[in-house]
Amino acid sequence: MLASRRMNVYSLYYMVERIITGPLHTNSFVVSTGRKSCLLIDPGVDAEKIWQSMERINLTPHTIVFTHGHIDHTAGALEIIEHYREKGVEIRVGIHSSDADYLGLNGEEINRKLLPVNNEEADEVFTQLFKPRPQADFYFSDGDSLPESDLQVIHTPGHTEGSVCFYSEVNSALFTGDSLFFDALGRTDYTSSNKDDLLNVLNSKIFQLPPETRIYPGHGPLSSLEREIRDDSFKTNHGMI
Ligand SMILES: [Fe+2]
Repeated sequence: MLASRRMNVYSLYYMVERIITGPLHTNSFVVSTGRKSCLLIDPGVDAEKIWQSMERINLTPHTIVFTHGHIDHTAGALEIIEHYREKGVEIRVGIHSSDADYLGLNGEEINRKLLPVNNEEADEVFTQLFKPRPQADFYFSDGDSLPESDLQVIHTPGHTEGSVCFYSEVNSALFTGDSLFFDALGRTDYTSSNKDDLLNVLNSKIFQLPPETRIYPGHGPLSSLEREIRDDSFKTNHGMI
């Protein structure tokens, strides 16, 4: 067992850096995939803060993936891609196909529909968050492995149709996006959301994982599966996200 773990570069160099970004305090995660390489999950609006963090720990991203398409999880992607392109590094971008419309040229309209109309505070948040976003280079589905990593895609529709979690069995880590937070679910009152779908998929897929699995959510503090299952308080949404 020890020998096989030593052979696995993803556990040998495993580390996660959390960067809190933007007005909605989105968690962006840098996940090492080797001694000098990393994968970036949900780059929020503060692109420079994110690349400075990666440069400080001497990791270069090869892939950006989104747990879902919402604006607060995707806003920094294009600036980061362009920053690394100037250094000769090409980053590939992946999302579940059901959330593809949140990216690219259509992204502005569909993201704007998430916010209440004629609401000054919401308009202010949108202005802070909206930046052009890239098209995806690849689409993933349930059960796929992410490139050059040990992360596996678990499709968890409910917050959005294309919401996913990323799971590393060897590192007991689960990146849940807005599907599951510390003590809460993501919002399910959007037109493309469905609370029953989300609760069903959490029960059938996520809560079957080992209880010691650490949860890295899209907002707020980290948690563990054991804690969320035991306390059962995740079934409500307390916030605006
Ligand atoms: Fe979201």
